[in-house]
Amino acid sequence: MTIAEIRAPGLASPLSTMSEAEFREFQRMIFAEAGIHMPASKRVMVAGRLAKRLKVLGLGSYGEYSQYLRRDPAEKQIAVDLLTTNETYFFREPRHFDFLRDHILPGHTRHKPFRLWSAACSSGEEPYTAAMVLADGLGATGWDILASDISTQVLDRARSGRYPMARAQKIPRDCLRRHCLKGIGEADGTFMVDSALRSRVNFQQINLNTRLPEVGMFDVIFLRNVMIYFNAETKKQIVARLQAQLKPGGYFIVGHSETLNGLQEGLQAVMPSVYRASA
Ligand SMILES: C[S@@+](CC[C@H](N)C(=O)[O-])C[C@H]1O[C@@H](n2cnc3c(N)ncnc32)[C@H](O)[C@@H]1O
Repeated sequence: MTIAEIRAPGLASPLSTMSEAEFREFQRMIFAEAGIHMPASKRVMVAGRLAKRLKVLGLGSYGEYSQYLRRDPAEKQIAVDLLTTNETYFFREPRHFDFLRDHILPGHTRHKPFRLWSAACSSGEEPYTAAMVLADGLGATGWDILASDISTQVLDRARSGRYPMARAQKIPRDCLRRHCLKGIGEADGTFMVDSALRSRVNFQQINLNTRLPEVGMFDVIFLRNVMIYFNAETKKQIVARLQAQLKPGGYFIVGHSETLNGLQEGLQAVMPSVYRASA
């Protein structure tokens, strides 16, 4: 093995090594598909995430997998699912949900339904957290949530609304009691988001790196913990695309470690990571 090859963790076969040239192929593919910039430092991670798939398909090298990807468009979605990072949890960055409850909802006039978009929703914890806050603040109806992601695998998990009990830790107890059901029998050790909430969240596959489908206009857009994967140009295009879907006076919320500095023409910073369109 040359030093330009990387062995996927846990795999002993020399066929599981990923050369620099092979890595560049995946780098190109994930950038073209999702706009994700995969730095060279991620080669081991990429090799590790794709290794199982090579095994399932009976392929002997990452180069063969690249060729397979070119022949089979459906395989591209599987590779995108494997290469995206989907970490999320309920009530992540809770100050955003406090702001929604204490500052955004009280200003809602109720003439029109309140609409929120969780634009990189992963396995659903973010939109279901928002749904709990909207149900508590606005009642059972008069609002809806669009929750989208590029990964079909996480969207399937999100639609099920079922999570291992350990994932309930950050949900305030009273909120958990009001909006979730404890699994029993075969579902022991899990909980389910109540169907009344689930029915208000519409999950849809949307790639933010391409022209958006018709989604309508929103009072609040969450774009949290995904811009970190994009380069400056992609970030700019995606923010502009989403900003066009914000109602006048609507809020654009990014992750705490992210910023719209230099990208937020037409948006005013209300506090770090929260921006508002002019009314
Ligand atoms: C780290 S998760 C963030 C989840 C949630 N917003 C949060 O803050 O907890 C990032 C998500 O962005 C999604 N993603 C990456 N590129 C995307 C793209 N081009 N279009 C839509 N979603 C994308 C990934 O599939 C992943 O589920």
